[in-house]
Amino acid sequence: MTARLAALASRLGRAERLTILTGAGVSAASGVPTFRGAAGLWRQYRPEDLATPEAFGRDPRLVWEWYAGRRETIAACAPNAAHVVIAAWSGRPGCRVVTQNVDDLHLRAGTRNLVRMHGSIWELTCWDGCAAGSDPWRDERVPLPDLPPRCPHCGGVARPAVVWFGEALRPAQLRGAVQATACDVFLAVGTSALVYPAAGLVHEARAHGAFTAEINLEETPASDAVDVAIHGAAEDILPHLSRLARQPPAD
Ligand code: OAD
Repeated sequence: MTARLAALASRLGRAERLTILTGAGVSAASGVPTFRGAAGLWRQYRPEDLATPEAFGRDPRLVWEWYAGRRETIAACAPNAAHVVIAAWSGRPGCRVVTQNVDDLHLRAGTRNLVRMHGSIWELTCWDGCAAGSDPWRDERVPLPDLPPRCPHCGGVARPAVVWFGEALRPAQLRGAVQATACDVFLAVGTSALVYPAAGLVHEARAHGAFTAEINLEETPASDAVDVAIHGAAEDILPHLSRLARQPPAD
C-alpha cells in the first residue's frame, strides 16, 4: 500500500495533465448517501420508480418528493477533505475534474474546470420542452414552495436537471468528459465504475497512454484495469497523497 501510494503521489506530482473522475463515494463522508452498497439509495428505492423519464411522466410529484428530500439532505452537508484536496489540485494548469455527483459539493469547495456529467440537483429544466426552459436555471430553495415546481418561462412542469436512466448526457458534458481522458494521470475516486459512459472513461484514458489509478473502499470492475488500485476512504487517502506529492522524491 505504501509503495502504491508513493508511486501514485510521484505521478501526481509530475503530471502536466491530471484528470480526476469522482463518484458518490467522494461525498459519502459529507453525509450524502451513495447509490449502491449496504446503505445505498438503490437498496431502498428502485431506480426505475424514481430516476427515469417514464417515472416522472407517471407521477412528477412523487419523483419531486424524492428529489426534495435529497436536496434537504445535501443542503445540510458540507464539502469534506476529499473535495478540498481535489479543489486545490483543480487550480493547477492542465487539471480537469469530471464528476458524476449532482450534489455540487465540488463547486462549493471551489473546484475549477469541473464537468458535471450527470447535471446538478440544484438546477431545473422545463419538462414540457419550451425553448427557453431547455437551459438549466438554478433554484436552491429548500424546501421548494410547490411540488412539482413550475417553469418560469412557460409555466409548465419543471424537472431536476439531472441525467436519468435511459437518458443521454448533455452533449457539452459528454464532450468535456471525453476530452478530459487525454491526460497523463487519470484518477477515479469513489465510483462503483458500473454506470456508463462514466465507467468507460478510465479505459479511454488508458488507451491515450495515461497512468490510471483508482481510490475506493472496495474492489470495482475497474480495479484490475488500472495501474494502481488503492483501497481506502477518499477523505483519508487524498489528503495523504497531497502531502506525499508535495514532498521531493527520495533518492
Ligand atoms: P455508487 O453509489 O454506485 O458507488 C459509490 C462507490 O463509492 C462505491 O464503489 C463505494 O465502494 C465507494 N465509496 C463509498 N464511500 C467511499 C469513501 N469514503 N471513499 C472512497 N470510496 C467510497 O456511486 P457512483 O459510482 O457515483 O447516476 O454511481 C454512478 C451513478 O449511478 C450516479 O451518478 C447515479 C447512479 O445511478 C445517475 O443518477 C444518472
